[in-house]
Amino acid sequence: LASPHHDNGKGSGDLSNVAPERHKLSPAVEGVGDGRAFFTEPLRDFSRADQRDAFTAGIEQATVPQVANDGTVEDIDKAISAADAYFPTWRDRDPVERANMLVRAADIMRARRDELSGVIIKENGKCWVDADADVCEAIDFMEYYARCAVPLFTRERMGLFIGELDEQWYTPRGVTGVISPWNFPLAICTGMTTAALVTGNTVVVKPAEQTPGIAKIMAEILWDAGVPKEALHFVPGKGETCGAALVRDPRVAVLAFTGSKAVGLDIIKAAGETPEHQAFVKKVVCEMGGKNAVIIDTSADLDEAVLGVRASAFGFQGQKCSAASRVVCVDDGGGVYEEFAKRLVESTRALVVGDPKLPGTDIGPVIDEEAASKCRHFIQRGKDQCTCALEMKVPDGLEAQIGKPYVAPAIFTDVKPEHDVAREEIFGPVLAVLRAKDFDDALRIANDSPYKLTGGVFSRKPAHLERAKREFRVGNLYLNRGITGALVARQPFGGFGMSGVGSKAGGRDYLLQFVEPRASCENT
Ligand code: NAD
Ligand code: ALA
Repeated sequence: LASPHHDNGKGSGDLSNVAPERHKLSPAVEGVGDGRAFFTEPLRDFSRADQRDAFTAGIEQATVPQVANDGTVEDIDKAISAADAYFPTWRDRDPVERANMLVRAADIMRARRDELSGVIIKENGKCWVDADADVCEAIDFMEYYARCAVPLFTRERMGLFIGELDEQWYTPRGVTGVISPWNFPLAICTGMTTAALVTGNTVVVKPAEQTPGIAKIMAEILWDAGVPKEALHFVPGKGETCGAALVRDPRVAVLAFTGSKAVGLDIIKAAGETPEHQAFVKKVVCEMGGKNAVIIDTSADLDEAVLGVRASAFGFQGQKCSAASRVVCVDDGGGVYEEFAKRLVESTRALVVGDPKLPGTDIGPVIDEEAASKCRHFIQRGKDQCTCALEMKVPDGLEAQIGKPYVAPAIFTDVKPEHDVAREEIFGPVLAVLRAKDFDDALRIANDSPYKLTGGVFSRKPAHLERAKREFRVGNLYLNRGITGALVARQPFGGFGMSGVGSKAGGRDYLLQFVEPRASCENT
């Protein structure tokens, strides 16, 4: 499968078509990272033998730390007490020093990147390109947030009024609870954690139960880079106990969560409670699920559309919040629907289901038995309600060899908007292909979901692309390319509706969620 960062053929490392002055995605900030401006981290180029060999060595060398998910509510309480006590010290630390800790952590990750990818591959089953992209995104978050944070703490003069000095700046909020998912086990955990730290908040991290190993390595890297242990606490444990306690503690000022809709909504509700002795209203940054659609117009370049949809639907086994799970194909009687479906099925059939440690594998295992049985349930619902155009097989003995469950890609056609596979977030390699009578109808069907995360359109009609920008209401819209693999600072990422609340990760507004604005007016 094409790398998510290479979905559009202009991956993070490819700057050949961009004017030099436009390479810089954020300005250099004095004293941060020796004054370098921000660039996204180039992905590994696996067409090169030296990079394949280094990556293979990294995988062999990688050891997943054994982390027991046995944190208790008392451990959470202790971590919050320590984080709360240290908050004033961390809040008042020089912002440039905090930023440079992130730059140092990014350097450490860069030096260990293949090994970190190896840990991700072994712990959560990502294939090569997706594991590499996960590590690159973690590095990008740190480098970018380091540069965005410092100016927030410099007082900015507002207007030029005689006899009056008006200024505005920002101040950190307090203890931040970070609750992270397993599907971007390094990037998302690093993004939320370092956004909070670099803006002067102390942090308690509760990682996903399925991927505590890579999250522990992240915490160790940040400590090694200079983040004090009192500022960053790591408590692996169950969501229902440790996560729930973190959410409800009255000393926690910010909750940064990425995960399912059910848990996200529960967190928003619980955080809204303000017991008598609580000194603030909690701020919740909440990224939830998606049921993302790609529209195939009659004018689409089907070669590009098939590859874009295939990578978006089946990359990391469809376990990305950004993944394509619905295709809405305009069927004006000219045969585009049948042609597209046929080519998509044949192209998907070529994917290799196998061991994610091997370079030729496109489809690895799903995260756990619960995820596998959810996928199998929806595959059965698809067979009951619509046409199963493709159900790939898992090679005999593979699950036993890898020790994890597999679900191979499935594609359903003749899907109606009311069918289960068209409505529910399955979070696996299951794709529904729906029919629309024209472009208006396609936009209506695509918008008909409470989730508003990613979406895509393949069309050669400029008027249709322009309409999609206005009327296809999703957080991240992609035109004539795949819909996964958002790059920090280039495609700030996040949705609205039931896909979440808050501003986009990897975007210039993201850090504002972790600070409070302050202003002063001095009579001079
Ligand atoms: P999940 O909601 O099951 O778990 C996420 C985290 O919440 C884990 O750390 C878990 O331990 C914790 N948790 C569980 N119950 C809790 C509770 N009652 N209180 C507090 N914390 C609790 O999600 P997941 O299965 O890890 O991740 C998959 C989901 O995440 C999908 O729905 C996907 O769409 C979504 N996701 C969204 C984005 C985005 O940016 N919008 C990115 C990645 C994943
Ligand atoms: N940021 C991730 C993507 O865009 C979820 O695929």
